[in-house]
Amino acid sequence: MHVSTVLFLTPTLFLSLSLSLSLSLSLSLSLNSIQGPLLAWETYVNIAKARLVNQQLLYCRVGIGYHLQVLSNGTVGGVHEPTEHSLLMVFAMKRGVVGIRGIKSGMYLCMSQEGIAHGAFSSDCLFKESLEENHYTTFSSLSHPGIYLALSHKGEAKRGTSVGRLQPCTHFLPRRAP
Ligand SMILES: *[C@@H]1O[C@H](CO)[C@@H](O)[C@H](O)[C@H]1NC(C)=O
Repeated sequence: MHVSTVLFLTPTLFLSLSLSLSLSLSLSLSLNSIQGPLLAWETYVNIAKARLVNQQLLYCRVGIGYHLQVLSNGTVGGVHEPTEHSLLMVFAMKRGVVGIRGIKSGMYLCMSQEGIAHGAFSSDCLFKESLEENHYTTFSSLSHPGIYLALSHKGEAKRGTSVGRLQPCTHFLPRRAP
């Protein structure tokens, strides 16, 4: 893979690509003898994606540092030490556009027009994922441009209309779940 290609990848795509590369290496060792060339590259990628979306954490660097969580009553916030509610599925819909779903609650993370983050059973809550210069990732609402996902110093959801991508409260780091 060319270095220039890597630079254009968003974090989620990059994670899934690098994961699929390493996964395909180990898979080809075990499966090649059975199915040979019939097992398409696409299959490797899909398996890797399924693994990837299983669980991950989104760490926000604001305050003492919080992991984003979606509670079962739809409340979105942060927790310092990860809990089962901070296990998230971050899936890429296309390059730079992701959905975020709490695994325990089954709810998608949505952003209202007023900038209130909440969980809902609607899959059309999408975010534009941007890799910032400091290597942190920001998530802005796809349907409400300029509204950012953010946590306060106390780890509560912060109104997305009053923050910007240069503020630490909007800076997230994808992490593998323990
Ligand atoms: C949601 O649940 C959390 C934790 O149980 C609780 O602190 C919070 O008040 C609840 N929010 C609503 C809107 O019910």
